[in-house]
Amino acid sequence: MIKTVEFTQEGYIRLIDQRLLPTEEVIVECRDYLQLAEAIKNMTVRGAPAIGVAAAGGVALGAQAIDTGDMTKFKGRFDEVCNVIASTRPTAVNLFWAVERMKKTAANPALTTVATLKKALREEADAVLREDIAINERMGKNGSGFIADGDTVLTHCNAGALATAGHFGTALGVIKAAHLEGKRIQVFADETRPFLQGARLTAWEMKKEGIDVTLITDSMAGYYMKKGFIQKVIVGADRIARNGDTANKIGTYSVAVLAQVHGIPFYVAAPISTIDFSIPDGSHIPIEERDTKEVSHVGNRQLAPDGVKILNPAFDMTPNGYIEAIITEKGVAKKPFTESLERLRTA
Ligand code: MRU
Repeated sequence: MIKTVEFTQEGYIRLIDQRLLPTEEVIVECRDYLQLAEAIKNMTVRGAPAIGVAAAGGVALGAQAIDTGDMTKFKGRFDEVCNVIASTRPTAVNLFWAVERMKKTAANPALTTVATLKKALREEADAVLREDIAINERMGKNGSGFIADGDTVLTHCNAGALATAGHFGTALGVIKAAHLEGKRIQVFADETRPFLQGARLTAWEMKKEGIDVTLITDSMAGYYMKKGFIQKVIVGADRIARNGDTANKIGTYSVAVLAQVHGIPFYVAAPISTIDFSIPDGSHIPIEERDTKEVSHVGNRQLAPDGVKILNPAFDMTPNGYIEAIITEKGVAKKPFTESLERLRTA
């Protein structure tokens, strides 16, 4: 199994450095929470659920290092740790969900000493990691029925094991579950400019899993849909609003529009922790703007002239009308999503 995020006995956080894949498989170890925060920012670890798991580990790691037996002082420093972790990336709601979960653990009135609190935080981070793996397994089973024998499935970005704590991930987990049921499936992976998660990570993962994968540039998706090559589209999500509007990697919206024009069902696979029930629709989702160097350069090679104006939003929002179904670990939501997602939340 690909180990995207692991916690050591000491509570250190081991990450596969996703910036170096597919050519180098290097594990980095974060020994303090500031290193972990930097690893989220610089995309050593990325993908909404993986960021959530890493964040939970980072909060626990930061807490272990707080050198005081005084509860009031501990809580003050603990809040600082949580704030640093929460300020790493703005769009994937799993990050905030994980930090809130850790804060809730720390607020348990039954934990009256710093030592018991630290222990509880370690255990909670372990639980977040374990649960993520189990959630992906259930999501795969809930979604595999949407994929038929002989389908070619297009995916955008990387929503696989590398984007989660493991077990094949969310969107790629659904594909893998269908593959394990014996269906013959082909995957078309959009390369996903500018960070190339599709080319570098999805293609790598699919090859490792023995699933037939073809890499295309983002601009080829419409061409192959029109030719009848693609039967389904399935993607992950970074944040889903209460009404089903979905933020995912930049370019997802274009794929959804193309899918609708060509009558191809477009599915989103994401854990319940990716649904932000506090916001009514996608207009409230903050979209991260990243360094323009990701667009002007590939590695160290400069592609664009010096001084040209560049934009680099990392995500876009697909309105709920383009989405056929949202696959979660608790079941599948269909339109109207406000009602169906709420039913899943309370199930
Ligand atoms: O910028 P990234 O690589 O963190 O963006 C990741 C995505 O957009 C994924 O599609 C999303 O997090 C779903 S991962 C299961």
